[in-house]
Formats: sequence, structure tokens, C-alpha cells
Amino acid sequence: MKVSVTRRAHFNAAHRLHNPKWSDEKNKAVFGLCNNPNYHGHNYEMEVRVTGEIDPETGMVVDLGWLAQVIKHEIEARFDHKNLNVDTEEFRELIPSAENICLVIWRILREHLPETYDLHVRLYETPRNFVEIGN
Ligand code: NI
Repeated sequence: MKVSVTRRAHFNAAHRLHNPKWSDEKNKAVFGLCNNPNYHGHNYEMEVRVTGEIDPETGMVVDLGWLAQVIKHEIEARFDHKNLNVDTEEFRELIPSAENICLVIWRILREHLPETYDLHVRLYETPRNFVEIGN
């Protein structure tokens, strides 16, 4: 029987959704307020869900302290209080939509997690809007 454990975390970051191949008018029409030239911020909340078998020796699926440290060092340190477009390698070319941010987070965490675990990431850009990736 597989069991899921979830760690919540958050970071604040600024971004601008802008496709340089498009006109200013089209960018404004498609991205709305998120196209603001001088950027704007979001309070991103994430839920990182790890699923696997319970280790009979520990009674745990995964050490949540370890998972919290991985999230802190690999995600929060990278993105918290950053301008995603300007300050991060990941979004220099990639549009920092909630979908792409969630995908980048998933890929980074996936690299740090043993293959036997399933990984699912939910990212809230606002309290009402969230995206999900993984299993
Ligand atoms: Ni935005």
C-alpha cells in the first residue's frame, strides 16, 4: 500500500509574462496584468507530495525534515525574493507562467528524489489559482 506525504512551502517572487515574438498589443491582450513591463509579485504556495511504501524500519515514507531541507535549498533559495525573469537562469528564456514554474520545480525535485517515489507538485499563484504536475 502506497502512502503520500506532503510538505507545504512558499516563496515570493516577481515575474512578467511576455512573449518577445509578439507585438506589445498581443502580449497585453493575452497576458493582461501579468504583462506589466515593470513586473509584479506573487506569493507562491507549493505543496510537494511524495508517494511511496512505508519503510518498516522507520514507519515513514520519507523523512519530512530531509524533504523540507531539499525544498529550502533547491527551490526557496533559488526563487524566493527573486525576479524570475531577470534573476534566475531557469526563466531567462522560459515564460515564468505558473505552469512553467511548477514544471521547473518538479524537475529540480525529481532529480533529488530516489526513483522509487512518485512526486507531485501543486503550485498556487493565488489562493484561487493553482497548477499541478506529477503523479
Ligand atoms: Ni502574474
